[in-house]
Amino acid sequence: MSEPHAHRATLFVNASQVVTCAGPPRARRGAEMNDAGVRTESGVAVVDGEIAAVDSVAALRQRFRNAHEIDCRQGVLTPGLVDSHTHGIFGRPRFDEQEMRAAGLDYMEIARRGGGIHASVRDLRARSEDSLVQLARARLLKLASFGTTTIEVKSGYGLTVDDELKTLRVIARLARELPMRLIPTFLGAHEIPLEHRGSTAARQAYVDLLIHEMIPAVASQKLARFADVFCETGVYTVDESRAILTAARRSGLLLKLHADELTSSGGAELAASLGATSADHLAAVSDEGIAALAAGSTVATLLPGTMLFLGKTKNAPARRLIDAGVPVALGTDFNPGTSPTPNLPLVLTLGVSQLRLSVAEVVVAATVNGASALSVADHVGQLAPGFAADLALFDIRDVRELPYWYGDNRCIATYVRGKPCYTSDLAVT
Ligand code: NIG
Ligand code: FE
Repeated sequence: MSEPHAHRATLFVNASQVVTCAGPPRARRGAEMNDAGVRTESGVAVVDGEIAAVDSVAALRQRFRNAHEIDCRQGVLTPGLVDSHTHGIFGRPRFDEQEMRAAGLDYMEIARRGGGIHASVRDLRARSEDSLVQLARARLLKLASFGTTTIEVKSGYGLTVDDELKTLRVIARLARELPMRLIPTFLGAHEIPLEHRGSTAARQAYVDLLIHEMIPAVASQKLARFADVFCETGVYTVDESRAILTAARRSGLLLKLHADELTSSGGAELAASLGATSADHLAAVSDEGIAALAAGSTVATLLPGTMLFLGKTKNAPARRLIDAGVPVALGTDFNPGTSPTPNLPLVLTLGVSQLRLSVAEVVVAATVNGASALSVADHVGQLAPGFAADLALFDIRDVRELPYWYGDNRCIATYVRGKPCYTSDLAVT
């Protein structure tokens, strides 16, 4: 029966596969990650920015009369990809450091010499809000061109009250202006700024500034959903990270943690004990860390592009995490120092080839589980009735081609709330 009172529907027809990821609106664990809900002979109906139905095209045409149709030209339709970890607001790129690392200087050594994050901090502090908006707009649109429709964006290259608020205002402006969903994270604890590194008292003064000034200001101006800390040997200790995140939670922010990226320091255990929404990186997570995550509800967000770009052979123990029952998400970690790629499908390639996940697991990791890592899995990450109509269409016939053509961009178009967000030259109408 047609629905005369419904607003006009849009039907996505002629897809060779529709990858729904349909199921419970929460992070998938263990064997659940192996089901991406791949359907053939199916279309998707969108009404008022929401998925209204996924069914055979004949059934959809019957139910939604006079619908506008989008011809998917035998491509593969997926939920819009979710990149749950980026540092997308920065000034100049840091390509100078790539050769330094190739010559044998390690990432942390470059930071100790005042480069690394400190170099991006000097640069961002000198820039206007408008200049940052311009740079970030182009960069975030590039991420979207690879199929990503939801992007977490962190601050963290300001490290003063004013420069962190400036960065978060840039994210807020772009969230209003751009069609993608942007989710802001306050990462004032990305580094100990150089001017606070002279003594224990100076260092403590910065932690106090984070807790007593920055977090309250960010929370009261509603400039972030999440707070994050770079918990790492040489950066924030576990005790400092706990103090900062506890204050953030008290202010109503949800929690994330850069945990056990380069060395094992108990970051995963801390994230689990605080009930953080995600623990990110985890290339050096300990057995105790894996057990702590498995016992809780924190999503493990893995960022293999970072390890690739830093030239590390180590990778997060993705198979062990999944087999232990930890929900795993994948992200780009898009940032100027350790992962300047906007290409989330490339990260899916690394997920299969380096982390040894199945195609279904990497697809779930970049949709439903990415949405869970951002606490939006109740309306984002699935092609299922009631979910937001965020979709990505790829010029492939089989979802297994998504991680296969590595480095290529097969994305034809993306939609957010049913509206075109990105269209390539191959754009469908
Ligand atoms: O996730 N680890 C800390 N932050 C980034 C690197 C940022 C930078 O080097 O600019 C990361 O790898
Ligand atoms: Fe990061």
